[in-house]
Amino acid sequence: MIRTDPHSYFDDLQPRANRWHLRLLVDFDSRILGGEVTLMFPRPVSGILDLDSKGLAIHRVWVTVSGAEVPYELGPEEPILGRRLRLTLPEATHGVSIAYETSPEAVGLQWLEPAQTEGGRLPFLFSQCQAIHARTLLPCQDSAVARVTYEAEVVVPEGLRAVMSAGAGSDGPGPFPGTRVFHFRMPQPIPSYLLALAVGDLESRELSPRSRVWAEPATVDRAAWEFAGVEQMIVAAEGLFGPYEWERYDMLVLPPSFPYGGMENPRMTFLTPTLLAGDRSLVDVVAHELAHSWTGNLVTNATAEHFWLNEGFTVWAERRILRAIRGEEAAALAWAIGQNALDESLERFREQPELTLLRTRLAGVDPDDAFSSIPYEKGARLVAALERAAGETAFLAFLRDYMGRFRFTSITTEQFCAFTEERLPGLLGRVDAEAWLFRPGMPVPVPAFPSARLDGITGLAQAWAKGTRPPEALMRDWSANELLVFLQGMPRELSLEDCAWLDRELGLTARGNCEILAEWLCLAAASGYEPAYPRIREMLVRVGRMKYLRPLYAALGRHPATRALARAVFQQAAAGYHTLSRRLVQTVLAGYPV
Ligand code: BES
Ligand code: ZN
Repeated sequence: MIRTDPHSYFDDLQPRANRWHLRLLVDFDSRILGGEVTLMFPRPVSGILDLDSKGLAIHRVWVTVSGAEVPYELGPEEPILGRRLRLTLPEATHGVSIAYETSPEAVGLQWLEPAQTEGGRLPFLFSQCQAIHARTLLPCQDSAVARVTYEAEVVVPEGLRAVMSAGAGSDGPGPFPGTRVFHFRMPQPIPSYLLALAVGDLESRELSPRSRVWAEPATVDRAAWEFAGVEQMIVAAEGLFGPYEWERYDMLVLPPSFPYGGMENPRMTFLTPTLLAGDRSLVDVVAHELAHSWTGNLVTNATAEHFWLNEGFTVWAERRILRAIRGEEAAALAWAIGQNALDESLERFREQPELTLLRTRLAGVDPDDAFSSIPYEKGARLVAALERAAGETAFLAFLRDYMGRFRFTSITTEQFCAFTEERLPGLLGRVDAEAWLFRPGMPVPVPAFPSARLDGITGLAQAWAKGTRPPEALMRDWSANELLVFLQGMPRELSLEDCAWLDRELGLTARGNCEILAEWLCLAAASGYEPAYPRIREMLVRVGRMKYLRPLYAALGRHPATRALARAVFQQAAAGYHTLSRRLVQTVLAGYPV
């Protein structure tokens, strides 16, 4: 037995499925996905096959063509892993089929009432499988090294549409009255965490010959306007990293309870509607999810312990795309905003320095609990250090070589290091990669991203404490990210007069850019600025994106009065939150002083 992933029962010595066929019925009344999955093998296999499962009811297991029953056994429930589903496959098994149902509490799914959608008339369902929630959707080898192609048939209530991280085939009347069936085919091999499904009242708009955006009818035109520049981003990314390998790059804008900013589901990036600022100021999240098409989806982390290979490279790539499109200054601002997130995570993990390594050890640790900006921002700074040490041109050539070598595979930090040492001998040593990867905190030196404009803004934020106010005309000229950098540079608690001044000069409480709004509301909450409380409540009830929930609930924890507000708001909002968001807020509230 060789288990290679601390978060999976996947066993390297057992047969490995390389193809799935899914037949699913989406039942909104019971909040259950029910149906069958067939796991297919590249050659006939036999013997023991351990699968991951969590909350699944297994009804029957059989050899796909012969129909012969396959003996199976469900192990005990483990808190992080779920239950091992052990099958004993007879000689010469080409495929095995499993009839099963998901649980209404499946963490990988969120079932929304019509009231939680923009249209308010029809329900909505979306999945979120990274890192280890695919096993709540289907029994499978839920480890990123076990890649699969898939086909799917999804039956949904009439009037709704299904989309997946796959190519769409035909759709037509479903097997039961009042249903419709959608067909999908995913020809590129993916890790299980990139399986994705959403069902709702969806319409699309074409953005380019290879890209369209899907959203609810009331949102789709705004979405098409916001993301109109996507083709330009794909072209810029191809110029840097080589051809786009997934044929289409479509996007789906979800309801606001989606717990992340974006998720790089291949051929169908999932996005939070909080990106629809109305001024295209938040499209760097699209650049990020698009960049995963190379770093993450083409070359994938083998396990969550190597998550930095996905996210560190992608943050770096996102900022290279940004630099190509909007220039050096815009990229420097993005690096500065990232630094702020990095500092926050280093502070949060002060007592758990083992989580500040890039190459982590996560046996017994839930990947959702280890999540932070460290793999993103520390990782991106390591990549930038490597780029500077190698020289830009040489580094891009190396990267294309790396992606060519490992395309459609899932690798470890150690494999990355071995390859780098082979192609660019001595490079790792020159940046002290050892310290970046295997030691806590930040090594020195860290690459700097200087910008005179940025220095001016942070200088003004720092001068605030000495009573200097930025000139109004200057403030009104700031871009969204410049204002964000300014707010992030401010003292964490302000006087009520200062809050009122800022709010009046900058119209902060009424902002539609959620990054600025969230940053401001954190300041307002920590300062006890009551005029912002209704807006804080409004945002926390409407938006389930964890990036905003954590700091906002934390800021509300600073004073007894706002702690009471936080608890009341959570009471009101919890039912609408995704399971992950709800758990996160519970953790923040549990950390309040008693
Ligand atoms: N893959 C991540 C989201 C994710 C990570 C989901 C881990 C589940 C587990 C995605 O690419 C991401 O990083 N999203 C960021 C956007 C960003 C850094 C621009 C987010 O959601 O905020
Ligand atoms: Zn990412």
